[in-house]
Amino acid sequence: MPTDELVMRRPDDWHVHLRDGEMLAGVAAYTARQFGRAIVMPNLKPPITTMAQARAYRERIRAAVPEGVAFEPLMTAYLTDTISPEEVLAGFREGVFTACKLYPAHATTNSAHGVTSVAAIRAVLEAMQRADMPLLVHGEVTAKDVDVFDREAVFIDRVLGPLRADFPELRIVLEHITTSEAVAFVRGHAKMGATITPHHLEINRNALFEGGLRPHMYCLPTAKREKHRLALREAATSGDARFFLGTDSAPHSVSAKESDCGCAGIFGAPYALESYAKVFDEEGALAKLEAFASEFGPAFYGLPLNEERVRLERAPVPVPHTLSVGGDVVRPFHADATLAWRYAGEDV
Ligand code: NCD
Ligand code: ZN
Repeated sequence: MPTDELVMRRPDDWHVHLRDGEMLAGVAAYTARQFGRAIVMPNLKPPITTMAQARAYRERIRAAVPEGVAFEPLMTAYLTDTISPEEVLAGFREGVFTACKLYPAHATTNSAHGVTSVAAIRAVLEAMQRADMPLLVHGEVTAKDVDVFDREAVFIDRVLGPLRADFPELRIVLEHITTSEAVAFVRGHAKMGATITPHHLEINRNALFEGGLRPHMYCLPTAKREKHRLALREAATSGDARFFLGTDSAPHSVSAKESDCGCAGIFGAPYALESYAKVFDEEGALAKLEAFASEFGPAFYGLPLNEERVRLERAPVPVPHTLSVGGDVVRPFHADATLAWRYAGEDV
């Protein structure tokens, strides 16, 4: 008899883009509906690099969450070549910054102010290591001669390996992993964690070109070959505490996606749990979903588990073609599909 109901601790999203302004007002409810907390990415324009900016952004997020919904945004500092260790540490001590995010300059959406070399932020990394403040890494090199599908593996070789060796006590999350090389690296080194998105568990790179160019399947790091998708599914469903939930939900308007130079990002927040449940069900691993979604993340970050319980039930969920979000139209992940698990809200 297949299970048709799943009650679990309320999960958290350890990697999300909530944007700002009207888009924030439109998307915050989707994340807050399913997740108790979320690690909020700082890649706004301009990026979040100071405590004052993070505090103000946190207030804007709280204001965008519907009344009566308990949701805690966990803020991150965007590392630049010039950010000071003092700002980062003071923010960590005062509970404003939960972690720092390293974007290699120009690796992805709004990363123009990113770090040009690890050498430029040595003092910050030393301070973070001493304070046990997590470093979150967008793991892609940007060198023009490196194939886009190799950027994560090359980053691991050229940047993450040496960084890991130089800062052995630093807690590092390799974000939104897409390759078997990333899975192996995380398993092979201490103090490592990794987030895995719903879309990288679902699609391989063929999805980008299925019957034509598919801008809504484009995100960074881009989906890879099938063997990598299978490695991610194995890691996510293995019960290994180093791998935990992070949607990398990254909304862009349909017009920004369907463009001469379409933006990278997949809007996974609206059906995130439904999507993860699909994967875990297909892998015969529904019993492992709670730990991946609700326990391993807090354990890595040293935060308490959520006490509330939520319920998923086996019931058809038709996903609309688009959602209307803050005056824009946005395409959700799984658009036009019908998912088999429904998020039924708090279990009371
Ligand atoms: C993200 C965005 O749009 O902010 N895009 C994406 O494809 N994931 C940035 C990022 O996390 O790389
Ligand atoms: Zn992201």
